[in-house]
Amino acid sequence: MQVGVVGAGAMGSGIAQVAATFGHSVVLFDTRERAIDKGLAGIEKNLARSVEKNRITSDEQTAIRSRISTVTGSADDFPAFAECGFIIEAAVENIEVKRDIFARLERVVADDAILATNTSSLSVTAIASTCKNPGRVLGVHFFNPPTVLPLVEIVPGLATDPDVTERVQVLVDAWGKSTVLASDTPGFIVNRIARPFYGEALRIYEEGIADMATIDWAMREIGGFKMGPFELMDFIGNDINLAATKSVYEATFHDPRFKPALTQQRLFDAGFLGRKSGRGYYDYSPGATPPSPTEDRELGDLIFRRILCMLINQAADALYYQVASASDIDRAMVLGVNYPKGLLRWADEMGIPETVKWLGALHEFYGEERYRPSPLLKTMAADGFTFFS
Ligand SMILES: NC(=O)c1ccc[n+]([C@@H]2O[C@H](COP(=O)([O-])OP(=O)(O)OC[C@H]3O[C@@H](n4cnc5c(N)ncnc54)[C@H](O)[C@@H]3O)[C@@H](O)[C@H]2O)c1
Repeated sequence: MQVGVVGAGAMGSGIAQVAATFGHSVVLFDTRERAIDKGLAGIEKNLARSVEKNRITSDEQTAIRSRISTVTGSADDFPAFAECGFIIEAAVENIEVKRDIFARLERVVADDAILATNTSSLSVTAIASTCKNPGRVLGVHFFNPPTVLPLVEIVPGLATDPDVTERVQVLVDAWGKSTVLASDTPGFIVNRIARPFYGEALRIYEEGIADMATIDWAMREIGGFKMGPFELMDFIGNDINLAATKSVYEATFHDPRFKPALTQQRLFDAGFLGRKSGRGYYDYSPGATPPSPTEDRELGDLIFRRILCMLINQAADALYYQVASASDIDRAMVLGVNYPKGLLRWADEMGIPETVKWLGALHEFYGEERYRPSPLLKTMAADGFTFFS
């Protein structure tokens, strides 16, 4: 089967490489010639590195590269996709652009071709609604970089045919990815559940409970996370991270749990975007001295427990509101954002009554909806249940 990819940016070029590596011939399209050149250069560099590391032979490198053909032009050039059975759209994150792409694609592809979007924050259902046959449209959400990160969230829209969802999940698993099934809700699984990792860290900082270096230290050293929240936001980029938070906040009709932080907005206003701009929460200019954490174990434990309980609360609510299954929720956080442990398993280990106690204390102290414990956690604590036996 031929695979089509619309958009040759960071995600599209990576997805094209994954599909070609599996053995599909791939049509990679972008409106900009420069994007195609850059995308292909990235693919070639990745393949050369894989040969150096003996992951593939040079014959395989040549074969994979030769399976990718490119098309540049306007959306009138979509006939290039006529023979494709599966097309993944990875163009800019703009609902109008995406809807236009899907409407045009549907005019040229075969009746049984499947159309997918790699959107991170838009509604799959809203994108699909532009199509005459929304049953063949779904979300296939890869993580960056798609060639390295194993997780893919499969997101059926309201009208998606269950058979299409199943076929795509089987196919993407065959590509060597680990798929999870998510409902078409804001942030899907990972981008929804991960919000307090940043948001609660910012809140703790804004309240003057600890400085950024100490919060990062606590999450790394006590929590076992690869990076602390502030260093991770600087790595991701404050523009990208703030946009993700704002989009979930807007899409949940302003659920206070997702409220963006003024500190991050100010950093964005100042152009302090993180590593890529040389300054974010930390200063990355040559010779700058990184601040030292206060390595106070008791304070560190408090910071870690507070953020962890907020993360567990999100994971429990995602299960309660049927965003995904318990095992998919845990797998998604480990494979998508490298968490040291699944959050629901972590809740079992820490004790669900203990988690509810922490959340209840925060809720009572602040009197804010942000800290309301998930009804699921409360019921489970009362009944003595655990997520996994
Ligand atoms: N970057 C990430 O971390 C990440 C992760 C998961 C999902 N996503 C999603 O994947 C999509 C692409 O993101 P990206 O980071 O690769 O962006 P990018 O800016 O690197 O690439 C987008 C590409 O789309 C092209 N484009 C714009 N309009 C087009 C059109 N009408 N037809 C065809 N191509 C068009 C642009 O020229 C550009 O090359 C977005 O929906 C984004 O939300 C991004």
